[in-house]
Amino acid sequence: MDRVSLLPDLNTLISRQTIDEIRNRIDIVDVVSDFVSLKRSGQNYKALSPFTNEKTPSFYVVPSKGIFKDFSSGKGGDGITFVMEHEGMSYVEALKYLAKKYGVEIKEDAYTPEDVAAQSERDSLYIVMGFAKDYYKDLLHQHEEGKSIGLSYFRERGFNDRILEKFELGYSLNEWHHIEEAAKKTSFSENILEKAGLIIRKDDKTYDRFRGRVIFPVHNLSGKVVAFGARILTKEKDQPKYINSPETEIYHKSQVLYGLLQAKNEIRKYDFCYLVEGYTDVISLHLSGIENVVASSGTALTEEQIRLMRRFTENVTVLFDGDAAGIKAALRGIDLVLKGGLNVRVVLLPDGEDPDSYSKKMGSTEFQHYLKSHTKDFISFKIDLLSADASRDPIKKAEAIREIVTSISLIPDPIKRSVYIKETSDLLKIQESVLLTELNKIIIQERKKREQERMRDDTAEPLPEFIEEAIQTGKTDPLAMVQMQERETIRLLLNYAENGVGDDQKVIDFLLGELEDVEFTNPVYKEIFDAFRKGTDTGTRIDNFYFLENGSDGVKRAVADLMTSRYETSPHWSEKFHIYFPHEKEVMHDVAMSNVLRLKFRLIQKMMDENLKEMKGVSDDTTLDKHMAIHSQLKGAERELAGILGIVVSKG
Ligand code: CTP
Ligand code: MN
Repeated sequence: MDRVSLLPDLNTLISRQTIDEIRNRIDIVDVVSDFVSLKRSGQNYKALSPFTNEKTPSFYVVPSKGIFKDFSSGKGGDGITFVMEHEGMSYVEALKYLAKKYGVEIKEDAYTPEDVAAQSERDSLYIVMGFAKDYYKDLLHQHEEGKSIGLSYFRERGFNDRILEKFELGYSLNEWHHIEEAAKKTSFSENILEKAGLIIRKDDKTYDRFRGRVIFPVHNLSGKVVAFGARILTKEKDQPKYINSPETEIYHKSQVLYGLLQAKNEIRKYDFCYLVEGYTDVISLHLSGIENVVASSGTALTEEQIRLMRRFTENVTVLFDGDAAGIKAALRGIDLVLKGGLNVRVVLLPDGEDPDSYSKKMGSTEFQHYLKSHTKDFISFKIDLLSADASRDPIKKAEAIREIVTSISLIPDPIKRSVYIKETSDLLKIQESVLLTELNKIIIQERKKREQERMRDDTAEPLPEFIEEAIQTGKTDPLAMVQMQERETIRLLLNYAENGVGDDQKVIDFLLGELEDVEFTNPVYKEIFDAFRKGTDTGTRIDNFYFLENGSDGVKRAVADLMTSRYETSPHWSEKFHIYFPHEKEVMHDVAMSNVLRLKFRLIQKMMDENLKEMKGVSDDTTLDKHMAIHSQLKGAERELAGILGIVVSKG
């Protein structure tokens, strides 16, 4: 068998044949669509970058080439790369995932020691974490200390064998070099143990990170262990209750939800998910027969975690402890989740109880019943909280209304917003129109704020040096003025090449025709312009992606910069002043024409400038006459162009 690709974490190899077959079956749009909601944009697709938190889409999928490109993070590649980047999978995992998706049978072979040596660091990290997980598990079940301390602790908390196995719980011995030595014996290097966060290096000594603690492995969606949480069992005051794995190449805390692997099927089945605080809460719910539960691990939910959850359901029920701190956390948590586009429900536990204590106290059936009967949507929850004293006090009531409407304003979907407004109106007995006015006020305020931020961002973006210089010095250097127009030509080509300019002509044909004998002065713009020219000559269509793949660094930067849509009129202005601003596309003829005229105008001024400079050193009359003739010819052309453009030119 032709063995090329490693399958180290699975101890096997995938044959070249299989890889080719997977590659052939991949439909990039289909692969990406499983994770990102794409919008068609010409022949390509675009979306908000799934790798950053951008506000304007700069993530592109090019089906004709089978690639994606994300300008906001710089990532790009084929379907396999996408799955690796998006899911944090290794190459082999991504292949396996895609093989399954497209029903390709995987042919594998066993690995050799050389293969192991060659495997990537990511893969090594998965392997060493898998090793450690198995090791901690064995210690819990087989080692005297593990059994007498770790296992008996879990038993006391009511964890049965099924749960221990499902969550792959373990125990770390109370020794300084136990996992280190065991791992080294299995031929893992100190380096990889340190990178995995299993051992800590201090000065030139190393020691185990987890000692004398029960171990909660954290799994990713493909079932691999990426981190550990280790709970203390003694009452030592100066020790933290949990010690967690550090961030590593395979573990990014903000992107992981504890328990998702064990919950995902049930979440899909019930189309909602309970959200709790930590490891033991997740397990308590499982013990009570509730398996659609995940934890954020002690911190507020991140945007990435919300995105992760959205892949399985849009409905979240947040479980909160019934004390003051719990309620405060509930209010904060709700707004975050709403903003992430999820539907939020809330269960508040009685004062002093957490999911663990309360489920034990009530027993499974009662606890399940409690959760069902105490689930409130976030509006009723807020109303109940706020209306205790709001009913008599009109100021408090107004405040409460504002509170609720502010939460509603965070929901991205306008239809959902109006449903909630209606509900609030019914519950609080306030006219819908009053609430809507309030809602619009808040939304407009928010938009204003965002608009201001956007403007700030825009000016923060670096301009090409020559423009920056022209602005700084106030000098209208003729060359800089030419290059500004060149830049505009390139912008039009990159954004509107295939649009019409009227008369059935495309922008690209119009510009290339009008500027046929113009040589661009700026090397980057020249490279781009010439490529468009050559593309038309040879009948190959050039688009932005062409440059992002083939261009020099300067070209790539310029293209990424110029293909953004920050030249569009702010919707806020049009709203505020009731002015209709046409989109550039609708006035493309004028835009393109004025660019051509301006570019020529600036070129003539540049030629005049050069001509005058040359004239200065000349003394013989014939040459002088020649320069004078050129000057007046250029001056005439300048006047003519200025007339068309409506620019006032000084006489002389
Ligand atoms: N946590 C953490 N580090 C700490 C304390 C807490 O990472 N020093 C995280 C853990 O994910 C933990 C969650 O916050 O599960 C909730 O904390 P807490 O309620 O204190 O712990 P429980 O897991 O609920 O433990 P127990 O039920 O044994 O009290
Ligand atoms: Mn707890």
